[in-house]
Amino acid sequence: MRFFILLFCSSLTLYSQEISLLPEPTEMELKTGEAFRLHKNSRLLYSDSKLKNEVKYLKNRIQSATGFKFSEKKSIKKAKKGDVVLKLQNGKGVIGSYRLEVKEGVVEISANTTTGVFYGIQSLQQLFPAQMYASKIQEKEDWSFPAVTIEDAPVFEWRGMHLDVARNFRSVFYVKRFIDLMAMHKLNVFHWHLTEDQGWRIEIKKYPKLTEIGAWRDSTLIGHMRDKPHQFKQGRTGGFYTQKEIKEVVQYAQQRHITIVPEIEMPGHAQAAIAAYPELGNTGVSPGIRPMWGISKEIYNPEETTIAFLKDVLDEVLALFPSTYIHIGGDEAKKDQWESSKRAQELLKERGLHDMHEMQSWFISQIDTYLTAKGRKLIGWDEILEGGLADGAAVMSWRGDKGGIKAAKAGHKAVMATNKYTYFDKYQSKNKENEPLSIGGLVTLETVYHFQPIPKELTANEAKNIMGAQGQLWSEYIVSDSHMDYMAFPRVCALADVVWSNKESRNYKEFLTSLEQHLHRLAILNINYRMPDEFKKK
Ligand code: ACM
Repeated sequence: MRFFILLFCSSLTLYSQEISLLPEPTEMELKTGEAFRLHKNSRLLYSDSKLKNEVKYLKNRIQSATGFKFSEKKSIKKAKKGDVVLKLQNGKGVIGSYRLEVKEGVVEISANTTTGVFYGIQSLQQLFPAQMYASKIQEKEDWSFPAVTIEDAPVFEWRGMHLDVARNFRSVFYVKRFIDLMAMHKLNVFHWHLTEDQGWRIEIKKYPKLTEIGAWRDSTLIGHMRDKPHQFKQGRTGGFYTQKEIKEVVQYAQQRHITIVPEIEMPGHAQAAIAAYPELGNTGVSPGIRPMWGISKEIYNPEETTIAFLKDVLDEVLALFPSTYIHIGGDEAKKDQWESSKRAQELLKERGLHDMHEMQSWFISQIDTYLTAKGRKLIGWDEILEGGLADGAAVMSWRGDKGGIKAAKAGHKAVMATNKYTYFDKYQSKNKENEPLSIGGLVTLETVYHFQPIPKELTANEAKNIMGAQGQLWSEYIVSDSHMDYMAFPRVCALADVVWSNKESRNYKEFLTSLEQHLHRLAILNINYRMPDEFKKK
């Protein structure tokens, strides 16, 4: 929803200003009343000390862009023109819902949760000129917007973005910036893909070799996996996060109402761990850190000692991440090493299992039982459905929507990460020659925008098991931060609109009009977004 409005500025010259929020709010009404204008004596009034975090966040933004003092006061009485009021109140509504209203020159954000107030603040920032996102003081700006009333609430509870920091490492700085951008788009789950064949990225104190050895590789594939013969660039590359850094990032995300779901891959995509501790594998020999992409044949062995190792790792992970869901991967686990291992065959018999899919299921259920006992919930890629899904486990459906449908029908929770719509490592245009090298496939901005997370096959009751959706940023071919920005934006913007607004009648043209405004904000934030083709043709 957007509004074209005409305003008279102080010099009485007529100018037009367009209001467009992204993601689109549930309802936005333009009124004839007095506009809101922030000035050097504007104050921030708030109702409850529970809002301290939101007060700090908004103050910081307003002060950085405007240079105004913007003093705070814990009382919402006697608001004057130009004041911002944050009000926590009892009421109904889903987590994240809020109301924003301009009345007699005062803007008030009210919600029944601090999360709702935080999202109201995100909308408030977008009502101002895009320069509100600037990191330097914008002396000449007129910080005003017309009288509006917004009633807003998210459609889905899981509004996620995944980031693969394992194929190519990303700094704490980039991760925090990514979290900021998620908050700006009212996204609330950051799925941090921390372990892989190509690198282990989280410090585990009990097993120091995971990062001493597992976080660094000596060579990396150049060009596409399909280009043969494969060529490699020699040179040590990698990195990892210390537990101190992780705590800092978790807190940073909490302040932005974002839950971090860490992913510790098992039983496949574990070559870096096996390189560090070969006794976790099936051959006893270190395979080294994988220098190229694709699916490795390396898989954890199914011994009790390996399960014990993973429980130790998870103990440290749980101490760092308060999230209810813990992602254990589970995808693309080749069973060849298990098939040809005498020991794995013995264990299969001993455990009364029929095949290696059931062995994977046994593996995952050991971890599921452990996480459940610790008061957490397991989530994994849709392969965890093969061989039977552990009680209480949730599914992340990536190979189409079949996994999500199966899970939801069986009463399990699911998140739709459908590769045809949400894999942002794919090309954004058919003109591949003008695009940076990518893994392949095509997911245009329009494709993302038209994604419907609820599969048609589900009844209304089953659909309640779909928690939401998320975009994926696998980083095999994405080395630099600016390239990561390019793959993420503006597809993240379309995804945000899907998971927050998801109106029944979706209008791509209207979305593009909002996006055109929104891109000014991203430009001010120095995001290297991809210019949508629709704008290039103009
Ligand atoms: C996946 O893309 N392997 C989950």
